[in-house]
Amino acid sequence: MKIIVVGTGFVGLPHAAVLSEYGHEVYAYDIDEDRINAYKSGQAEQIERYVNEPGLSAAIAENINRYLFFTTNIDDAVDGADVIFLCLNTPPKRDGASDLSYYLNAVNHLADLLAKRTQKNRVVLVNKSTVPVGTARLLEKLMKQYGVENFGVASNPEFLAQGNAIGGSRRPDRVVLGADTEEDFEILRRVYSQFVNHVRIRYLETTPETAEAIKYMANTLLLTYISFWNGVGARLGEAFPNIRMEDLKVGVTSDDRISTWGSYVSNGAGGSCFGKDIQSLIYQINSTGRSTDLLQAVYNINEFQKVYLIDRAVHEAGFNFNQKTVALLGLAFKKRTNDMRDSAALKVVESLLVRGVKEIRAYDPLAMEDAKNYWFDPEKNHLFGRITYHDSAKKAIEGSDVLYISTDWEEFRGLSRTIETTVKPPYLVIDGRRMLPDYNALVRGGYEYLPVGGALLRPEPQEAAENDLQEPELISGSEKVAA
Ligand code: UGA
Repeated sequence: MKIIVVGTGFVGLPHAAVLSEYGHEVYAYDIDEDRINAYKSGQAEQIERYVNEPGLSAAIAENINRYLFFTTNIDDAVDGADVIFLCLNTPPKRDGASDLSYYLNAVNHLADLLAKRTQKNRVVLVNKSTVPVGTARLLEKLMKQYGVENFGVASNPEFLAQGNAIGGSRRPDRVVLGADTEEDFEILRRVYSQFVNHVRIRYLETTPETAEAIKYMANTLLLTYISFWNGVGARLGEAFPNIRMEDLKVGVTSDDRISTWGSYVSNGAGGSCFGKDIQSLIYQINSTGRSTDLLQAVYNINEFQKVYLIDRAVHEAGFNFNQKTVALLGLAFKKRTNDMRDSAALKVVESLLVRGVKEIRAYDPLAMEDAKNYWFDPEKNHLFGRITYHDSAKKAIEGSDVLYISTDWEEFRGLSRTIETTVKPPYLVIDGRRMLPDYNALVRGGYEYLPVGGALLRPEPQEAAENDLQEPELISGSEKVAA
């Protein structure tokens, strides 16, 4: 099949690479020349500057100029295409609505080209990135307005998680296709022939509107589940110190119907999808005059969670951030990514700056470059100049008054030792990801530990501990009672 993929970001590029593995003739198009040149080089280093996914560069290197072609000019490729996948970004606007401007620019350009094509074979236009319910219908209307002939529209949402885009494209848990005619489904079956009748992969054919809604329901349900743990599980663990969060998780998720994914409490879920999709769904349902109370609560819980530990540090641990130096470990929205979109660290930094900290000493294994996109605005330099970047956790901790762990990088599991050898107590450790399994040793060593989903742990007061030790020699039991 001759396939065009419009937009070569996190969704489009892995999709194009995997389609080319199945021997389709794939043209991956983007308006950004630097990006396309990087992909054309076939070099991992160049490709990863734009999309960093395990297995992606190898898949590109194997298929480039055989089945996979990169271009900034689709004018020629459009003729004879069977399927065109639209993989454009749809960022949120201020009111939560999806900004369709990139999408509509691409669609208008395409419609113009398609109206003039010489080969009039059936072409199916497929929305792959997440777009509001009704967008396939809008696409159909626009194509008709331009006078495009013999086309169909479809919705084929992607369900990839960052870090597993190639694995997830090769072996998705389901393929959802929404189209209007048997002719269009037949064309799409030829594109995805490896998944039709697959023993494990669900191949679902439905209406475009249903397919669009499936994507929003799936993402907002996942966030609802995370927010249930963050809004109920974490609150319980904080309110009743004898609750063991790890046991709570095992006990609840041992039910086959309740997933372990989503059950680790955190300082809020980030990323390019959850926050944007829930806001968009709220907007879509609200604009029809219907209630979105549940979604609104889920969104609020997640945003609240991103800064709640800072409030707890002030109110429970009595910590005053004014003029203090904070070590911030983890900037990415989750481990194994360099992406900071909607990351809790963004809100944490905002809250710390508002509280007048002297310095934020930041470290992340992968996201330091991305951080500069957020915190290098020269106009706000008086604020962002307070953020310094360090190339190890140890260096970030040096000279700090307090530590905040924001991302679940595996390397933070062994951090207690680094803390002990780098800063002396009294010292507060705020753990937004429950990363320190040996926190008891830390507390015994005199440090204070404030975890998400757990009570503040403080070392025994020094005097009492000393008295305990000397008690047999100094005073008898009866004297102690009298005292
Ligand atoms: C998410 C969904 O998981 C995918 O199914 C979906 O296709 C994708 O969005 C999308 O719409 O494109 P992703 O954003 O890559 O994928 O990341 P997740 O691994 O789902 O993590 C999202 C956030 O939730 C992270 O900040 C993560 O640390 C947090 N999280 C995850 C928790 O706080 N607790 C958990 O138990 C699990």
